[in-house]
Amino acid sequence: MIEADLVVSDAAQVVTCDAARGAGGRLGVVEQGTVAAAGERIVWIGPSTRADAEVRLAPGGRRLDAGGRVVLPGFVDSHTHLVFAGIREKEYALRAGGATYQQIAAAGGGILSTVRATRRASVDELVELGRARLDLMLAHGTTTCEAKSGYGLTVADELKMLEAIRRLDKEHAVDVHPTFCGAHEVPEEYRGRTDAYVGLVVEAMLPEVAGRRLARYVDVFCEDGVFSVDQARRILLAGARHGLRAKFHADEFTPLGGAELAAEIGALSADHLLAASDAGIRRMAEAGVTATLLPGTAFFLGLPFAPARRFLEAGVRVALASDFNPGSCMGFNLQLVMTMAVSQMRMPPEEALLAVTIGGAHGLGLEHEVGSLRPGKLCDLLVCDVPTWEHVPYLYGINHVRTVVKRGRVVWPA
Ligand code: NIG
Ligand code: FE
Repeated sequence: MIEADLVVSDAAQVVTCDAARGAGGRLGVVEQGTVAAAGERIVWIGPSTRADAEVRLAPGGRRLDAGGRVVLPGFVDSHTHLVFAGIREKEYALRAGGATYQQIAAAGGGILSTVRATRRASVDELVELGRARLDLMLAHGTTTCEAKSGYGLTVADELKMLEAIRRLDKEHAVDVHPTFCGAHEVPEEYRGRTDAYVGLVVEAMLPEVAGRRLARYVDVFCEDGVFSVDQARRILLAGARHGLRAKFHADEFTPLGGAELAAEIGALSADHLLAASDAGIRRMAEAGVTATLLPGTAFFLGLPFAPARRFLEAGVRVALASDFNPGSCMGFNLQLVMTMAVSQMRMPPEEALLAVTIGGAHGLGLEHEVGSLRPGKLCDLLVCDVPTWEHVPYLYGINHVRTVVKRGRVVWPA
């Protein structure tokens, strides 16, 4: 008999996203299922008819009746710019009038306007802003996310952003995994001196960030007019020497060779990839680099979507994430991201669900902890008010999440 502190009983479907379990191929669907947790971790998953014989609720334990709803793994949002001050709603309007993202950036808007606002903000202010966003992300099913620095662009301001991210991880139910993205843009004071700024990132920022254990990952915006492939390589390899895994903005607008670089250096993930070459996609498959696709950004900017099917057909593992940020994607609803992936990128619905769960976990190197439901992993799950999991992307634009469990505790509704 297994003892549990939490039993989520009588789900119409438990979608484990674990191919070793249940039916439904890689989705591992347990029909009429129950999930049990002890402490933070899952201890039992199976048909509800067997639960009473195999699982006992510990004194003081909690039973959550899923009441014929659908249980999914908590979503893993593996690419966000969660922490920033200031908003850029005027740019959004300008874009509707025909201005491009690059034109807005060239006119002093874009990332650098968020940098100005973020430099003025205190750690406390950044934490408050981040907390309100995390509350909404959690309510929409995100139980794990990544968060980048990159709106500070000085040693002190990058550290300030990462301090805010560390506090958010500690204080909020959502687990927040930090990425150092000091090479998000060239700051005004280094305009025309990109190599000198790369030197600052490598020689001053990285040692401080790594020394204080403020980041797990390192990211670069590798793009025409921002950081070249050679500059990105230099930063990412320096990050690796400090123990940071590479996951970076690659081939978003221009086919620069970011996908190829990701394969060359064994990056955890290459992100965006709207303009990735066929050779780059093949090399990512060979090297086992996760492709993190961000349809919310293409949608918000009015751009064509990344060629998801080419990645899937080449055997590349795909993650879908939000890219939440004030300029190119002011949204973090991964249910809606799934709908975009199915309708606009022609991803099969099951691939879309895998991509916001176990795919995102792979993009963060956390596939043994989160992203699927299996005994031993964290009990991060969603009870969704739908008759079958397919309704999550299908009936779009509303929140299907009724209850969120994080690390074995009901955390939403609070
Ligand atoms: O992922 N591409 C660079 N960074 C962000 C945009 C950040 C911003 O505009 O503030 C992105 O789209
Ligand atoms: Fe981004």
